[in-house]
Amino acid sequence: MMRIVLLGAPGSGKGTQAQRLMGKYGVPQVSSGDLLRDAVARGTELGKQAKSVMDAGQLVSDDIVLGLIRERLSRADAANGFILDGFPRNIDQANSLNALLEEIGQPLDAVLLLDVRNETLMQRLAGRRICPKCGTVYNIHSLPAGATTCEKDGTELYQRPDDKEEVIGKRLAVYDQQTKPLIEHYSKLGLLRKVAGEGELEEVSERMEAAALAKPVPASKVKVTKTPAQAKRKNPAVKSAKPAAKGASKAASKAKSSKAKTKTKSKPKSAAKSKAPAAKGKAARKSAKKSSKAAARSTKKAARKAPAKKAARRPTKARKKK
Ligand code: AP5
Ligand code: MG
Repeated sequence: MMRIVLLGAPGSGKGTQAQRLMGKYGVPQVSSGDLLRDAVARGTELGKQAKSVMDAGQLVSDDIVLGLIRERLSRADAANGFILDGFPRNIDQANSLNALLEEIGQPLDAVLLLDVRNETLMQRLAGRRICPKCGTVYNIHSLPAGATTCEKDGTELYQRPDDKEEVIGKRLAVYDQQTKPLIEHYSKLGLLRKVAGEGELEEVSERMEAAALAKPVPASKVKVTKTPAQAKRKNPAVKSAKPAAKGASKAASKAKSSKAKTKTKSKPKSAAKSKAPAAKGKAARKSAKKSSKAAARSTKKAARKAPAKKAARRPTKARKKK
């Protein structure tokens, strides 16, 4: 089960990585761009409307794209998850997707943001080639010199019309203006995971996989091992020792001054103070277990009169004298 959105600029590797994850996890890649290109290739009414918009590097209307996504997610192979590639593309589409996923009971696990520098994007897009038969994405920079056909089925590769330099600039600008706000949107929802999108394909895939499978842990289930100091702080018997600790730190800071000698003398007394109330609390807890609340109260009284309290007051008296 994997229900993720791949977010990233044109050329960041969404399609490439979606194909790799799809092969491994058996969930379909649902690419709005591929669905639109398919409609264009088939010459449907919707395809005719979309073609000029796509060739200009602009976004096709939300209604058209949402219709395609809705239909695609309703197919049997998407029942156990999906990898959304290129959708949503703006806040309205994100809200529509949220409503659709609620309706079909398939909430998102994560949104993976592929982070790639602009100069790399330009280079990748200009060199991209695609197999029209199986959809495998290649790049002239990584293909063997002179290769023009698909390694899988031998079909002649083609270049997307919107991968021309003048259109690439427009697409990157549209991404900045309309799609980038989704980064904050999904961050706020706690779904966003940023992945470094540069490096060997295999390395990026490993990062994507790790990010996709890392399940966020609900705050209520987070158990942190306490340090001894934290454990002491939790113990009410030690609570009253706080002033002693403060006194000790005060003494430590004042030790730097010219009166350092006199102040440091009071340190052992502060330490004695911190032990005394602990003994008091222990006694109180013992008697509370044995008998009723009244018995506990009387034990507390007794404890208050105990010499431990005198010891606790000693440092203050000592200071006053000085
Ligand atoms: P769409 O098809 O979604 O294009 P895009 O978002 O612009 O992204 P690309 O497909 O260009 O890049 P990619 O991130 O998939 O990168 P790829 O893996 O191919 O959209 C096209 C158009 O359709 C839009 O402009 C719009 O008009 C319309 N449209 C689509 N969705 C829409 C929506 N939701 N709403 C409205 N309109 C919508 O990789 C790129 C190249 O880099 C390849 O050559 C690849 O081999 C290479 N590469 C990848 N990874 C690496 C790597 N790690 N190292 C070296 N090279 C790499
Ligand atoms: Mg793509």
